[in-house]
Amino acid sequence: MSENRVQFATRLGVIATTVGSAVGLGNIWRFPFEAGAHGGGAFLIIDLFFIFIVGIPVVCAEFVIGRHTGSNVRGAFRRLAPGKAWGVVGYIGLLASVLILSFYSVVAGWTLEYIYRSVVGFGGVESVEGLHSQFDAFATSDWRPLMWTLVFLGLNYFILSRGVQKGIERMSNIMMPLLFVILIVFCVNSLMMPAAAEGLEFLFKPDFSKVTPTVMLSAMGQAFFSLSLGLGCLITYSSYFKRDTHLVRTAGVMASLDTLVAVLAGIIIFSAVFTFGMEPAAGPKLVFEILPSIFSRMPGAVIWSTLFFVLLMLASLSSTISMSEISIAYLTDEFGMGRRKATILNIGVAMLLGSLCALSFGALSDWTICGMTVFNFFDYVSSNILLPIGGMVISIFVGWVLKRGIVNEELGAGSGISRVIVSLIVVCLRYVAPLCIALVFLFGLGIF
Ligand code: PHE
Repeated sequence: MSENRVQFATRLGVIATTVGSAVGLGNIWRFPFEAGAHGGGAFLIIDLFFIFIVGIPVVCAEFVIGRHTGSNVRGAFRRLAPGKAWGVVGYIGLLASVLILSFYSVVAGWTLEYIYRSVVGFGGVESVEGLHSQFDAFATSDWRPLMWTLVFLGLNYFILSRGVQKGIERMSNIMMPLLFVILIVFCVNSLMMPAAAEGLEFLFKPDFSKVTPTVMLSAMGQAFFSLSLGLGCLITYSSYFKRDTHLVRTAGVMASLDTLVAVLAGIIIFSAVFTFGMEPAAGPKLVFEILPSIFSRMPGAVIWSTLFFVLLMLASLSSTISMSEISIAYLTDEFGMGRRKATILNIGVAMLLGSLCALSFGALSDWTICGMTVFNFFDYVSSNILLPIGGMVISIFVGWVLKRGIVNEELGAGSGISRVIVSLIVVCLRYVAPLCIALVFLFGLGIF
């Protein structure tokens, strides 16, 4: 384990770290718009299947690798399977983490703009239409989204290079529960809206006629994205877990809290979507148009709205830090690069690519790759392709290649966990996860 990268995770509470990485824009921004675009209830059911049947076992697999080796992704595979090609997961993870960091920072930048707008009371605009066109005008303009993307990445640089992550972690220990409480308040508020029942029906009543291979691919991508899974982030974090950390329970708690936050966000958004007569399939702008409309109807709008966007920004920050840590750990460990230099390189690349993503709603909206804007392409390739491939390789490695004794010891050690559960996880890793991922790929990508 390198001295350089010990700072962030070593002293973190296990749950706080992993939940801090998992909970972010993926739950509150990405889940509602993906569910909205892909049939609501049907999407949720498939997402839940992937989280609990495929996701939890693969989270356990990353934990087993990380804690057993106490290493970064590349180092971990080098120790476990020297000279073999398994380390390719490390490269997939590196690429995915940079692509995700780039487009994620654009949306995190939107939260910065919305903190500012909340403080100034949205310039006095209160009507739903007014707030919606305000967002459209902002996102399609060039300079402000670009500026906020760079400011957000600058914030990341500041935290990562100074090694003050401990402060962020302490802060998120308070912020995360607060975010949770605030979501519950908003949820109750949304449930009292006139068309709440329609929203709940959309989110919870699956219409299986809407299930297509594309919906399955997107739901699988959402599950991996939301759990920070398949790119080695959890291998890195678990390399700092103590011997007595209960891996299976940690994976279960993390996945459950992550899902709960997404479902709460879904209830809040869809109750409002139907009440305001909006289109659930509005895409990435959905949450940013809906939330201010909800807040403007609550007493103390300025406070609620500011508090919410500050919390969302901090939740995003604890996720982006975990993404950057993958590259920084790799560069410092493998090339002996100083932490500062590695951070500059990581954030520098993200600033370049992030600028393209920020402009892809405006000036560069005509730049398309495979029919998608740069922003959508980065999201699609990383979430729907790279993370599931990474997850598949990790599950095959732990299920088939890693000595069963190591898996049993890591999953069962000191936790009194029953052998049946460990065996079930191994069966999922050997058969269920690789098969499900492969099938969804074959159909979802149109290979079949
Ligand atoms: N899981 C995070 C979220 O939901 C995003 C993330 C993806 C973080 C991959 C780290 C790695 O916001």
